[in-house]
Amino acid sequence: MKVLIIGGGGREHAIAWKIARSPKVSHIYCAPGNAGIEEIAECADIDVMDFSGQITFAREKEIDLIVVGPDDPLVAGAVDALEEAGFRVFGPNKAAALLEGSKSFSKDVMKKYGIPTASYEVFDSPEAALAYLETAKMPIVLKADGLALGKGVLICNTREEAVNGVKTLMVDKQFGSAGKRIVAEEFMTGREVSVLSFVDGKTVKIMTSAQDHKRAKDGDQGLNTGGMGTFSPSPFYTEEVDEFCRKRIYQATVDAMKAEGREFKGIIFFGLMLTEDGPKVLEYNARFGDPETQVVLPRMKNDIVEVFEACIDGTLDRIDLQFEDNAAVCVVLASDGYPEQYEKGYPINGLETFKNKDGYFVFHAGSKSDGSGNVVTGGGRVLGVTAVGRDLKEARDKAYEAAAWVSFKNKYMRLDIGREIGERAGKE
Ligand code: AMP
Ligand code: GLY
Repeated sequence: MKVLIIGGGGREHAIAWKIARSPKVSHIYCAPGNAGIEEIAECADIDVMDFSGQITFAREKEIDLIVVGPDDPLVAGAVDALEEAGFRVFGPNKAAALLEGSKSFSKDVMKKYGIPTASYEVFDSPEAALAYLETAKMPIVLKADGLALGKGVLICNTREEAVNGVKTLMVDKQFGSAGKRIVAEEFMTGREVSVLSFVDGKTVKIMTSAQDHKRAKDGDQGLNTGGMGTFSPSPFYTEEVDEFCRKRIYQATVDAMKAEGREFKGIIFFGLMLTEDGPKVLEYNARFGDPETQVVLPRMKNDIVEVFEACIDGTLDRIDLQFEDNAAVCVVLASDGYPEQYEKGYPINGLETFKNKDGYFVFHAGSKSDGSGNVVTGGGRVLGVTAVGRDLKEARDKAYEAAAWVSFKNKYMRLDIGREIGERAGKE
């Protein structure tokens, strides 16, 4: 079987690595890919939004299965375009991907079907939003309705901050048309957990839990990023939480999408907040999480291609999804200055240390080949160094051990990924 992956980040590298382990697969292609993916897949320099380029390429290579990684193409209808061209594609179509593409849509779905989430209001004009803020409770969370690279969420502690937030999103349009409409949402407190799931339109199978570290600096300080590191499983995702979410959130979401005429096939990423009143949905994503995928897939026992096919064929109920009873930690090596200004193009050393080392992975997020055999930094997030261990403490120690194998100019990483959890696990 020949598989084409659309995307070129750490998530897609982890997906490619997992697909490469399937005995069904003879050849993997990736568009556009990166210098790490290149080692296991043939990469083609086609933009993730260039659907006709992807179709031409897939026809030429006689691709049997296409897996779409990122949110932008999913929300823009990549799956519809590729299916129309006759391909088997893993991922939600445009109608279903709206679950991530519009925050107001997803909030309305949760409200209509009684799925626990923060209370909210939707605004289409800055005047209406500002009028609401005069009496609204602070802190409040303002969210651009559309996709904004995960950055369109503003947590406002005071009314003044909230008024400025409305200006940023709706008047100055910092996130473009994503902020034409905004959601103002009750501020929740609690632990965050990411739960990824496979969905075939009617059945949902939950993967193991994970937790992301979104802020740039240790101690959850600094700006929000795409994610500086993850661990899996989350010790806060207890059996009790799992039972509640299975009863009230997971299947309810899949059923709601079906009832709305937007049958969802692919990955639903449930961003949960474990509040004092029980688990609530923070957000949905219609794709694998990044860098959650880098800690979840190394722990998955199944042949992922079989699971992808079951989602497409509507036979997911026959899959017994299984995960190893271990743990994984991913430490992101970034270019210093990310998520703001940073330099790139520096040679990366030490990647060969990962070769043939069981339980250690280096997933490339932003890397490039310089044409003469060297791999250079090519983005804000450069690598996701992942290690698997018997428990979170061991996984964490191994991940940081491996993070030291790699060097490049301006290398930056958080030093506290899973620290609190690792210490806790060590005591148990
Ligand atoms: P989202 O893109 O909706 O996941 O939001 C990004 C981040 O903002 C989340 O991971 C939370 O840390 C935070 N956040 C979003 N909504 C809320 C909320 N209602 N209360 C508190 N924090 C929130
Ligand atoms: N790690 C969060 C996300 O993928 O959106």
